[in-house]
Amino acid sequence: MEFSIGAFVLYIVSVFSLICFTHGDNFYKDVDITWGDGRGKILENGNLISLSLDSSSGSGFKSKREYLFAKVDMQIKLVPGNSAGTVTTFYLRSMQPKHDEIDLEFLGNVSGSPYTLHTNVFTQAVGNREMQFNLWFDPTRNFHNYTILWSAHHVIILVDGIPIRDFKNNEKKGVLFPTFQPLRMYASLWNGDSWATQGGRVKTDWSKAPFVAMYRNYKVDTCNWSGGKPNCHKKPWWSYEVTGNRYKQMRWVQRKFMIYNYCDDVKRFPQGLPLECKLR
Ligand SMILES: *[C@@H]1O[C@H](CO)[C@@H](O)[C@H](O)[C@H]1NC(C)=O
Ligand SMILES: *[C@@H]1O[C@H](CO)[C@@H](O)[C@H](O)[C@H]1NC(C)=O
Ligand SMILES: *[C@@H]1O[C@H](CO)[C@@H](O)[C@H](O)[C@H]1NC(C)=O
Repeated sequence: MEFSIGAFVLYIVSVFSLICFTHGDNFYKDVDITWGDGRGKILENGNLISLSLDSSSGSGFKSKREYLFAKVDMQIKLVPGNSAGTVTTFYLRSMQPKHDEIDLEFLGNVSGSPYTLHTNVFTQAVGNREMQFNLWFDPTRNFHNYTILWSAHHVIILVDGIPIRDFKNNEKKGVLFPTFQPLRMYASLWNGDSWATQGGRVKTDWSKAPFVAMYRNYKVDTCNWSGGKPNCHKKPWWSYEVTGNRYKQMRWVQRKFMIYNYCDDVKRFPQGLPLECKLR
C-alpha cells in the first residue's frame, strides 16, 4: 500500500515536471540572476523576470548556456514614465579577451520623449557599428518581441518580427564576423546617466526609483552540433534572408525611425567608412 502511494506521488511529480520542462520559457531553468542583491527577481513560476534599479544598484541576469549560432527571442516591457538615465539591455557576448558581442540597449528618456534603441555589433573586441532607432510604438505599455538572429551568414536584429538591421557575413571580403566564439545571453538594468539620455544632459531622477523593467518569453533555438560542426541548416532561421517584403520593412524602419547610422557618419571616420559600409 505504502509503495503504491509512493509510486503515485512519483507519477504526479514526474507528470508535473514534464509539464514544467516542456513549457517553452522557464527562467529558473534557463538563466541565473547574476547581480543586484535581490533587485532582480524570477516571478510567476519562472515565466517573468523583473529587474529593478535604485540609487544603490541595478540588476541583471545571464543565460546558463552559451550558444554558437542561435535565434534568441525575448519580450521586454521597458521602464515607464520618466526613465531618463536608465539603460535596459538584452545582448549576447563572449568572454574571450577579443570578444564578440551583439547589443540591444534601450536608453530611457524623460516622460513623453521616445526611448532610443541603441544597437551594436562587436567582432573580436572591435565595435563602432552603432545604429540607433526610435520605436514605432510605446515600449513601456506592453511587452514587445526583440530578436537576435545569429547564423553563419547574418546578424539580424528584429523588433516584433520586423528586421531593423542586417549585418552580413563579409568575411571573404575582409570584414570580421562572429563565427567561432560561443555567446551567452545577458540582460540588465543600470544607471547610464553619464551618457545615455540626450548625451548625458538629463540625469536620473532618483525620486522616481525604483525603476523596473520586465522580461518574459525567453526562447532560444540553437544548433545541434554533430561531428564538430553546427548542424543548423534545417532550422528555418538559418536561411533567413532580408529580401523582398522583409527588405521593404527594414527600409521603412530605417527611413522613418533610424536616428543614427555609423555608415552615414563620414566625419567620424576620416580615414574612410568601415569596409562593410562600402559593400552595401
Ligand atoms: C511576439 O511573439 C509572440 C510569440 O511568437 C506572438 O504571439 C506575439 O503576437 C508577438 N507580439 C508582437 C507584439 O509582435
Ligand atoms: C530623448 O528625447 C529627445 C528629445 O525628443 C531626443 O532628442 C533623444 O534622442 C531621445 N533619446 C535619448 C536617449 O536621449
Ligand atoms: C542531432 O544530430 C544528430 C546527428 O545528425 C541526430 O542523430 C540527432 O537526432 C539530432 N538531435 C536533434 C535534437 O535534432
